[in-house]
Order: sequence, then structure tokens, then C-alpha cells
Amino acid sequence: MSVSRGFLVIAPFYMIVGVLIGAQMGGSGDHTLAPAHAHINLLGFTLMMLFGLAYSRFPDAAASPLARLHFWLHQAGALILCVLLVLLFSGRITEAAMFPLAPIAELAVLIGLVCFAVNMVRHAR
Ligand code: HEM
Ligand code: HEM
Repeated sequence: MSVSRGFLVIAPFYMIVGVLIGAQMGGSGDHTLAPAHAHINLLGFTLMMLFGLAYSRFPDAAASPLARLHFWLHQAGALILCVLLVLLFSGRITEAAMFPLAPIAELAVLIGLVCFAVNMVRHAR
């Protein structure tokens, strides 16, 4: 699967989960999951759609090994962070229990973003 298709196919599933949590919050009036909802929608859906569209617009960027590295780092990092945020804000784990997985996942996302930035500098037209 190409990197652009990978991002574009996975993003809507984050949107569905994010919107379901939003609807649950709106319906119940309990907004404690808002930060988890925000990051599922933004880190999951919005960023992945933008990455997918950028890679489909600039095929040279998508063909670079940096794109594949970015894809896997973002998939792993975003999934781990979103799951941890749901567990944290639903009161199932403590903030201390997120260590060291959360910083590792944050680093994975960040390194992926640096790969994306370098790739865009090289190939965006
Ligand atoms: C049917 C769809 C959605 C519903 C019902 C919904 C509902 C909500 C609710 C109830 C909150 C908590 C508000 C608060 O306590 O201040 C919230 C926060 C938030 N939502 Fe949604 N949402 C939806 C879709 C989205 C989408 C598609 C995005 C982004 C692409 C998004 C981004 C956010 C963000 C960033 C926050 C946090 C805002 C803040 O910190 O004040 N939401 N949403
Ligand atoms: C590794 C990536 C990220 C980390 C570690 C991170 C971390 C955080 C933290 C710790 C908060 C405060 C949560 C709280 O209210 O207790 C926050 C809030 C927020 N972040 Fe992020 N963030 C990340 C990525 C992003 C991205 C990519 C976006 C947007 C595209 C974003 C948008 C927001 C918004 C809108 C809020 C306010 C939401 C709320 O308070 O409910 N974040 N983030």
C-alpha cells in the first residue's frame, strides 16, 4: 500500500472514533474525555488526512524512504497516545502509569514529523 493511501484510509477511522466520543460527551454532558477526543480527531484524523493529501500531491516525497518511516512512526505514536489518553481521562490509569510509553510515543510522532518536514523541503513544489 502506498504511504498516501495508507494515511487516507486510516484517517477516517480515527474520525469515526473521535466523533463517537464527541457525541457521547455531547449527549451525556460529561466532557472529561475532551482532550482524548481532541487528539483522536487532530493527531489521528486531521493530520493523517493532511499527510495523505500531501503525499498524493507530491509523489516524489511519497516515494522517499522518509515517507515510509514517517508513516510507521506516526501510526505507532498516534495509536499509543490516543489509547493512553482515553485510558487516562476515563480514570483507568494514572498519569504516572503513562511513563515511559507516552514519552516514547511522543518521540516517535516527533521524529516522524521531522521526516515529513525534511521530505516537504526536498519535494514540495
Ligand atoms: C459530531 C461531531 C463532534 C461532536 C459531537 C463533538 C463534541 C465535542 C465536545 C462535547 C467537546 C467538549 C467541549 C468542552 O468541554 O469544552 C469537544 C471538544 C473538542 N473537539 Fe469535538 N466534537 C465533534 C467533532 C470534532 C472534530 C471533527 C474535531 C476536529 C477535527 C473536534 C475537535 C475538538 C477539539 C480540539 C476539542 C477541544 C476543545 C477545547 O479544548 O476547548 N471535534 N468536542
Ligand atoms: C505528540 C503529540 C502531542 C502531544 C504529546 C500533545 C500534548 C497535549 C497536552 C498534554 C495537552 C493538554 C491536555 C489537557 O487539557 O490536560 C494538549 C492539548 C491540546 N492539544 Fe495536543 N499534543 C500533541 C499533538 C497535538 C496536535 C497534532 C494537535 C493539533 C493538530 C493538538 C491540539 C491540541 C489541542 C486543540 C489541545 C487542547 C485540547 C483540550 O484541552 O481539550 N495536539 N496536547
